[in-house]
Amino acid sequence: MDVFEAIRSRRSHRSFSDKPVETEKIDQILEAAQWAPSPANNQPWEFVVVTGDGIRVKLLSILDRTRQTGSIELHGFSYVRPAPGELIEKTNTESPAGHYSLSFLKNVPVMIAVAGEPDPSIRQGLIDRVKDGYKYACAASIQNMLLAAQALGLGSLWFTFFDGESVKDALNIDPAKHLVAIICVGYPASTPPSPGRLPLQAKVRRIG
Ligand SMILES: Cc1cc2nc3c(=O)[nH]c(=O)nc-3n(C[C@H](O)[C@H](O)[C@H](O)COP(=O)(O)O)c2cc1C
Repeated sequence: MDVFEAIRSRRSHRSFSDKPVETEKIDQILEAAQWAPSPANNQPWEFVVVTGDGIRVKLLSILDRTRQTGSIELHGFSYVRPAPGELIEKTNTESPAGHYSLSFLKNVPVMIAVAGEPDPSIRQGLIDRVKDGYKYACAASIQNMLLAAQALGLGSLWFTFFDGESVKDALNIDPAKHLVAIICVGYPASTPPSPGRLPLQAKVRRIG
């Protein structure tokens, strides 16, 4: 599959089959993540691969608590609600977490937590673009993972609705790091419909 096909066909999956994911494929996904660009090649990411049942049960109880309390941390990313028509179960419209069903999480075969390390050498007051470089690098590594998963016949999801501090604690992630996302990976149980995109001209200006 070429890169354009992977980009175009990738979808957010929220339903996975129970077919186990081969370790070699997870390694290929992690290697793709490693080749993402980062400021001065500082590679500010840490990837925690969660497959064991014990830790998964613990993680799920944290995630479920987040859903119930609506205690959401947005990790510095502004969150965009799902596009109209997207198949999301609205469980509780009072809370932002209510816009996503989390029930699928108990069937996710592999979760990869992505933690970013802020660069302590970057002075306060510097423009946000520089200060936030580690988050952008983590985002680039995540997109590499999603595309690699797609190319390997796997489904994936960029998941952010969780209480970052509790998840970091459960996964033994350095408190100084920032939990950017949990990437869910598995063989798809179905093909999600495309939520579509705005026409290109709505987002592009050409000068010259
Ligand atoms: C920063 C970010 C956070 C997201 N958080 C969630 C999430 O917590 N739960 C979820 O189901 N999808 C989440 N998504 C997936 C989006 O809902 C999805 O990418 C979007 O609706 C477009 O659908 P597509 O990925 O199939 O093209 C997130 C995506 C991004 C980029």
